[in-house]
Amino acid sequence: MHGYFAVALSGGSTPAALYALLADNAYSCRLPWDKTQLFWGDERCVPKQSPNSNYHMVHNALLSKISIPSENVHPLVGQDQDPLQAATQYASTICSVLKPEKYPRFDLILLGLGIDGHTASLFPGTTALAETSKLVVATYVDRLKSYRITLTLPVINNARNLIFLVSGANKQEILPTVLAAPNMALPASLILPTNGNLEWIVDEAAAGGLNL
Ligand code: 6PG
Repeated sequence: MHGYFAVALSGGSTPAALYALLADNAYSCRLPWDKTQLFWGDERCVPKQSPNSNYHMVHNALLSKISIPSENVHPLVGQDQDPLQAATQYASTICSVLKPEKYPRFDLILLGLGIDGHTASLFPGTTALAETSKLVVATYVDRLKSYRITLTLPVINNARNLIFLVSGANKQEILPTVLAAPNMALPASLILPTNGNLEWIVDEAAAGGLNL
């Protein structure tokens, strides 16, 4: 093994409960934070202090409650610089730690599912979905009228472990469609690890549309 655990965290609201659990002493004291390299799978182009920032959510739920070496925490700085430059810089940060030959291989990437089938900040109809050489891209999301920065599909699909965390009745409709078959209109359906594990952790409310 490579002597560390590299994880890319998901944003949004669902994973906050997981991060809070990991921050609980019952778990946090059992995790090797000194050997854990924390990254973000995507970020909004807002200040780190913004309630919309994925860094802000993780800081409140987890980082402010655990002792992890600051050099092991790699925020995706989405503000204060050109989004394209921020994406390039983050790719360099990832490579400085994971030292890949081509695509970095995260030990774990956590993902969420949007009601439109997006995951990370890979949104339907964006050019980010077709990116096969860059590791991190800035993408303008017209519906949100804002830029996002995200890991690209080749990086996500190169992870050893991928876990989707999906909760809420509002995901009932999109989930079965995403699980049915790969579809360019549904970025989450394109998460197909090349040589890794894919798991879906779904609550009852979100699973309501599945034939289980
Ligand atoms: C983000 C996330 C995004 C999220 C989904 C689901 O930056 O918003 O990375 O992909 O995971 O939008 O969000 P919820 O889990 O809050 O529904």
